[in-house]
Amino acid sequence: MSEAVEHIKSSDPQAPVTRKGYLMSIKSGEPIDIKDCDVHGRCRAVTDFEKLNRIGEGTYGIVYRARDSRTNSIVALKKVRMDQEKDGLPISGLREIMILKACNHENIVNLIDVVVGKSLESIFLVMEYCEQDLASLLDNMVQPFSESEVKCIILQVLHGLEYMHSRYIIHRDLKVSNLLMTDKGCVKIADFGLARLYGEPSTTMTPQVVTLWYRSPELLLGSPIQTTAVDMWAVGCILGELLSHKPLLPGNTELGQLDLITDLLGTPSENIWPEFLKMPALENFTLKQQPYNNLKPKFQYLTAAGLRLLNFLFMYDPKKRATAEECLQSSYFKEPPLPCDPKLMPTFPQHRNLAQTKQTTGQQTNIELPTISAILGSILKKRRVE
Ligand SMILES: Nc1ncnc2c1ncn2[C@@H]1O[C@H](COP(=O)(O)OP(=O)(O)O)[C@@H](O)[C@H]1O
Ligand SMILES: [Mg+2]
Repeated sequence: MSEAVEHIKSSDPQAPVTRKGYLMSIKSGEPIDIKDCDVHGRCRAVTDFEKLNRIGEGTYGIVYRARDSRTNSIVALKKVRMDQEKDGLPISGLREIMILKACNHENIVNLIDVVVGKSLESIFLVMEYCEQDLASLLDNMVQPFSESEVKCIILQVLHGLEYMHSRYIIHRDLKVSNLLMTDKGCVKIADFGLARLYGEPSTTMTPQVVTLWYRSPELLLGSPIQTTAVDMWAVGCILGELLSHKPLLPGNTELGQLDLITDLLGTPSENIWPEFLKMPALENFTLKQQPYNNLKPKFQYLTAAGLRLLNFLFMYDPKKRATAEECLQSSYFKEPPLPCDPKLMPTFPQHRNLAQTKQTTGQQTNIELPTISAILGSILKKRRVE
């Protein structure tokens, strides 16, 4: 046994677990060794999975496409990022595991298992594999989604959200890169690293969540109370993005984001949002004055029902904002063009795997210049990641 382990054993049970870890005896309070054969407990080991390629890396983890050698099936393996942790699993990883385990719905990504690496420091979520995420799909697709395809995607997101919200789960980071799609056209909400449970009465949460572009006005204005309405605002942004084929409110800073929202929807007031003037951030600045709602000129080809839905999702007052259940009743989904059947959604090349294969095999003999759309796509993608 190494000196370091000896040291930890004898002196400081609170010290970071950097090797295989140890257990504390309930009887004596003394640390006890974990036998090699018990290191993984009842968890499967990640070595059971053959990593095929990296498909994503975001704020909280790296994601691989992998083959389960027991079942031969393809799965997604998400490594829980531990680097800043001193003593155990980061809260974001724990939350994600707990919440995904509690969810069982076809529009929420399925957590198959949690497996461990060599040391207790590496923990992986094994999830069903989805061929696409909407961000890389939007960046790479030649022809934008038709309106009936957009309706099909949004309806599935709403079904997933209705399920989550009825279980008091708020996602808090809905955006196109966290929406996955299978080759069968099934859309799945993923990345529950920021998700939280909320109860009545509402608890205080840190407002610095949700990527800027999809962030609701109450979060931007520093409201300590977050409800399921923050997810519904993000749905409005995603619907707008899918319909106009570009991000709807791509702000660079929080103030810039508020400016973009005000330009699109007009300045909020106490009349339409009674709590507006109590928002903490208004102590530091005032919003610019812009009296018009510009949704109609922005979405000229959208029907009255479509505009009603967008306006309902973009209610400034979170209490008045549409719920997932209400959106599902919207006449927008019942009028032509009708939402297409998920099974009829087109299939797309798997860009994430193609890019990786080229890189890893190094067999790219023809040096091809990237197309303009690819360059624009990668700039957009970069900004999305930021
Ligand atoms: N189950 C999955 N199937 C396919 N790709 C996935 C899956 N889960 C995640 N990904 C890919 O990995 C990326 C990052 O995963 P995500 O769960 O969003 O983690 P992060 O917290 O790092 O953003 C996603 O945008 C997506 O491209
Ligand atoms: Mg993500």
